[in-house]
Order: sequence, then structure tokens, then C-alpha cells
Amino acid sequence: MVNRFWRLDTRPAGNDFAAALSLQHGALAEVQDGEIVIRNRWLSMDAGTRMWMTDRTDGYQPPLPLGAPMMGLVLGEVIASRTAGFAAGDLVRAFGTWSDYSVVDPVMAGAVKLDPSVADLRDYFGPLGMNGWTALWGVERTGATQTGEALVVSAAAGATGLLACQIGRILGGEVYGIAGGTEKCAMLVDQFGIAGAFDYRAPKLRERLAGIDGGIDVYFDNVGGPILEDVLANMALYGRVAVCGLIAEYTADQPRGPANFDQVLMRRLRIEGFFSPDFMDQGAALTDRLRGWVDRGLLAMPYDVTAGLENTLTAYAKLFTGSNVGKVMVEID
Ligand SMILES: NC(=O)c1ccc[n+]([C@@H]2O[C@H](COP(=O)([O-])OP(=O)(O)OC[C@H]3O[C@@H](n4cnc5c(N)ncnc54)[C@H](OP(=O)(O)O)[C@@H]3O)[C@@H](O)[C@H]2O)c1
Repeated sequence: MVNRFWRLDTRPAGNDFAAALSLQHGALAEVQDGEIVIRNRWLSMDAGTRMWMTDRTDGYQPPLPLGAPMMGLVLGEVIASRTAGFAAGDLVRAFGTWSDYSVVDPVMAGAVKLDPSVADLRDYFGPLGMNGWTALWGVERTGATQTGEALVVSAAAGATGLLACQIGRILGGEVYGIAGGTEKCAMLVDQFGIAGAFDYRAPKLRERLAGIDGGIDVYFDNVGGPILEDVLANMALYGRVAVCGLIAEYTADQPRGPANFDQVLMRRLRIEGFFSPDFMDQGAALTDRLRGWVDRGLLAMPYDVTAGLENTLTAYAKLFTGSNVGKVMVEID
């Protein structure tokens, strides 16, 4: 059987993914003992995977070797299994490859069987997946958001940010989003009911954030860079910064820290990073809570779907140019 897959040929410069990855055709590997074959139906596009494409060895994941198939979360149907616990026909989510089929060891790939009664299975990439877990963990645990506190979320119209905004509301926070452009900001307020939204592409973000009464208690940071500096200048005393992602810095040669780091002392802030694989063992419990909110209509996700494996790079680039709203994914015919 022929399997098309995206191969990482060189380390991409900026957002030039077409020069760095190529679509290959190869024979599907024979399934070995302990493995399953997944017919990928959807691919999840996740900003954090951009770091795997670099050669930095001090990240939270080792670099993906050149010549390897590009990895990412996939959702699809098991078509062959040589391990107990998975059978042909099971719907699963796993770390697989950007390809028609993924051959994986389900333990290493974090494969989970999906409940086919979920109305929209794509939710297993959104509220019921890593983005949902990350948003809940960051708002509730790392950010320790309390009722009535001002929670600011960056990249607020993207997958993780949109969930953090909604969960912040559910948990009683006064939620503000930061996003690129007036349309995204209007959507956040009008459709998702948050208290306010700030367009970071417009001038004077720092001054505008100063309008949040009492300062920012919790910052759910998806971005880093200059926005982090503008937020640090507006944190409340004893505020918390939950560092989820640093998308402004994933393509930088040299990661940079905030220039006004001194505000951590001046305002007695706590800054803490968190990483979803660290709490994967609690995934089932997190999913249960998130599903309750989805079922009650409290948590929603717009899907930005690109059709065709051959168009994967177009979908992926949206994350870094901000041309997406909600969860970016690829649907494979
Ligand atoms: N810690 C974890 O376990 C974990 C898990 C999942 C995701 N994450 C992190 O969460 C963040 C969002 O990831 P995602 O996969 O959900 O993507 P996403 O939010 O759906 O898409 C990325 C968004 O980031 C914004 N953006 C891109 N470059 C930017 C820049 N230079 N400055 C400001 N905003 C920028 C864009 O929106 P605008 O139009 O607003 O610019 C874009 O829509 C990433 O930093 C990712 O690494 C972390």
C-alpha cells in the first residue's frame, strides 16, 4: 500500500515551509508486534511543533531528525492492530505522522480510543484534546485564576487561547483577549462573551492594557515577545503568568527574555511554564470535565479545515501568520 507523507528535509527559515518539507510517496511499513496502523482522517496543526523543526536541543522535545516524516497529532481509524487493546475499526487519536497512514506503537504515541458518540469527533483535537487540557490546566492550575480576577489571554482567537478564554469565563474570571486585528477582537467579545479584547497590531497596547481596572491578575501567555513586556508592565501585585507558549519566538535565532523582567520583583509575580505531556496521565479526568462543558454548550470551537494532505503546509502556515480562527486542521480524503 502506498503512503504519502511529509518529510522534513531541512530546517525551515521563518515560515518558508515549502522549502523545508516535501511530500513523499513510499510503501506503507509492515505493521510489527505492538503496533497499530491508523488511517489518518484529520491532522492537527499545532504551533508547538514548529520547535521540533529547529535544531535547538534545549527545547522540551528533541529536534526532529532531518529526513524523518513530520510528526503531529492525528485522528483516524485503526485498520490493523498487532497489540492488545486496539482493534480494526477503533477510532483513535495519537501522535502519528503527517501522512495518509500512521504506523505507531500506541503506548509511545499516547494513543487513546475515542467515544464515537461525541457529536463532532474533531472536538478530540479541540476542547477534548491537548488544547483543551492545556487551556484548563493553565487557567486553573498554573494561573490559579480566582473568581472575579482579571485573566488576560494572548493568541486569544486561536485554538488554545479561545479555549482558555471560555474556561476562564466558566471558572468565574473576568476575561480579556489579545489578538491580531479588529475582526478577531470583535468576535471574541460578541460571540464568546469575554469582557474585552485588545488588537496587538494597533499602537499602544501597553497603554490600553492599563485600562484594566486593578491590573492583570493572571496572564495566560501563548506568545512571549513584546506582548509579554506590555503585559508585565500592567500586572497586578502578586499576579501569575502561566507560560503556555512563545509563538513569537519559535522562529527566532536567539530566544529573548522580556526587557522589563524586573517587574517580576517589583510586582511580586509568579511566572511558571507548563507543558501538556506532563499531565497526560490525567487526560481522562480533564476530558470528562471538558466534555461536560461541551455538552452543556459552554465550550465551543470553530474549526479551520483545509482539505487534502497535499495542502498541509498551507494550513500549517496559518498558525504563524494569524490567518486562522480556532483550531487549524487538515482533512484527508
Ligand atoms: N504548553 C503546552 O503544553 C501547549 C500545548 C498546546 C499549545 N501550546 C502553545 O499555545 C500557543 C497557541 O498554539 P495553537 O496550536 O493553539 O495555535 P493557534 O493559537 O490556533 O494559532 C496561533 C495563533 O498565534 C498568533 N500569533 C502567531 N504569531 C504571533 C506573533 N508573533 N505575535 C502574536 N501572536 C501571534 C496568531 O493569531 P493572531 O492573529 O492573534 O496573531 C495565530 O492564530 C502556541 O504558543 C503553542 O506553542 C502550548
